[in-house]
Amino acid sequence: MIDGRTQEALNKHANAEFYSSYLYLSMSAYFQSINLTGFAHWMRVQAREELAHAMKFYDQIIERGGRVSLQVVDAPAAQWDSPLAAFEDAYRHEQKVTGLINQLVDDAVQSKDHATNAFLQWFVAEQVEEEASVDAIVQKLKLVGGSPGGLFMIDHHLGERASG
Ligand SMILES: [Fe+2]
Ligand SMILES: [Fe+2]
Repeated sequence: MIDGRTQEALNKHANAEFYSSYLYLSMSAYFQSINLTGFAHWMRVQAREELAHAMKFYDQIIERGGRVSLQVVDAPAAQWDSPLAAFEDAYRHEQKVTGLINQLVDDAVQSKDHATNAFLQWFVAEQVEEEASVDAIVQKLKLVGGSPGGLFMIDHHLGERASG
């Protein structure tokens, strides 16, 4: 059984993952609106992955005998100045989520909650992957500097992301 404070923290983080899903779905809609369908596909897959992250927290709360409480999910931005601006936003967001995960781990360690700590370790590794994959796209976008040819090449590449 989890204590009340941990239950609240896990519920709060589930909300952050739901927000991530919402943010990336909004980015997908933005990319669709500027006809970059490969980018839109990549973001749509990412949105689904974030939903799966939220559900891991949901399931964990239940498995530990806690009570899930769903909160309001903030509205994400709907518009970005460029594909680079959107991916830079995504990168900043993942850095923020990494900070939240690290704080949860610190709290679990401090309260000697080994089960929660073990659960969170998957997310520690996942955040390394998330930051790396988003940053790789940021760097590619910087490289092509908004040239249509370069953007189309990246769009084609991102369109090949497995739907997971
Ligand atoms: Fe996530
Ligand atoms: Fe991932």
